[in-house]
Amino acid sequence: MTEADPNGSVAAAEESICALYTELALHPERDFGWGKGKENARLLGYEAHWLDLLPEAVWESAAAVGNPFGLGRIEPGMTVVDFGCGAGADLCISASLVGECGWAVGIDLTPAMTAKARAAGRLMGLCNVEVRGADMTAVPLADACADLVISNGAINLSPAKPCVFKEIFRILKSGGRLWFADVVRDGTEEPSSSGSWADCVAGAVAPARMIVMLARAGFADAEMVAFTGYCTAPTTIGATFRALKP
Ligand SMILES: C[S@@+](CC[C@H](N)C(=O)[O-])C[C@H]1O[C@@H](n2cnc3c(N)ncnc32)[C@H](O)[C@@H]1O
Repeated sequence: MTEADPNGSVAAAEESICALYTELALHPERDFGWGKGKENARLLGYEAHWLDLLPEAVWESAAAVGNPFGLGRIEPGMTVVDFGCGAGADLCISASLVGECGWAVGIDLTPAMTAKARAAGRLMGLCNVEVRGADMTAVPLADACADLVISNGAINLSPAKPCVFKEIFRILKSGGRLWFADVVRDGTEEPSSSGSWADCVAGAVAPARMIVMLARAGFADAEMVAFTGYCTAPTTIGATFRALKP
């Protein structure tokens, strides 16, 4: 427990997140009560090409909330950073799209997930993938190193979302983009007082709140693009967002 977190609630949330996503990495066959795996990705609009190309070991532990690749075009040579990369599905797609002159870096808190994402890169023979075990609020990357930050179902899990957006802003180049899919609160500004934090319920905020946090971090043109149909509880829904670092 820290002075800033006298009840240890942040530490407890982090512990429950690591426990749940370790379980998803090691026992993906389990029913977690929310969409996961290749069929979930197909329903969210991932191209058939990617569903076929990525190894089963990657898709089995994927927990996508939306399809960030529908938000724009990734060009060869770009540096893409995936916040909360999990087992590495979006990371490996990004690495394939940026090619050998580009770079794809995954960030995740859960050691079993970072191990799986590294194995995914090796399995696909990708030489432009790097995975760092880190919290999204303190990413071991230099200022202005990324052309694009993506994220899928991870930012809602952070109790410190403004710090996550500040960190994304810091590592993006000027003109860099943020595209992400996340679980949001359906139809109300009120934060959820109940529901599991790790299952993407308690940490979900309304889309308008997300836009305010993005603007406060310095982003321009922050917008919610669409709802994705994904849900983790009757009060939540998946949504995609885009923003620009001026
Ligand atoms: C719902 S899963 C989604 C994983 C991946 N993006 C996907 O689409 O399959 C959320 C991931 O975010 C990671 N995560 C949660 N909080 C984090 C934090 N504060 N810093 C880094 N990673 C975090 C978890 O370990 C987990 O792998």
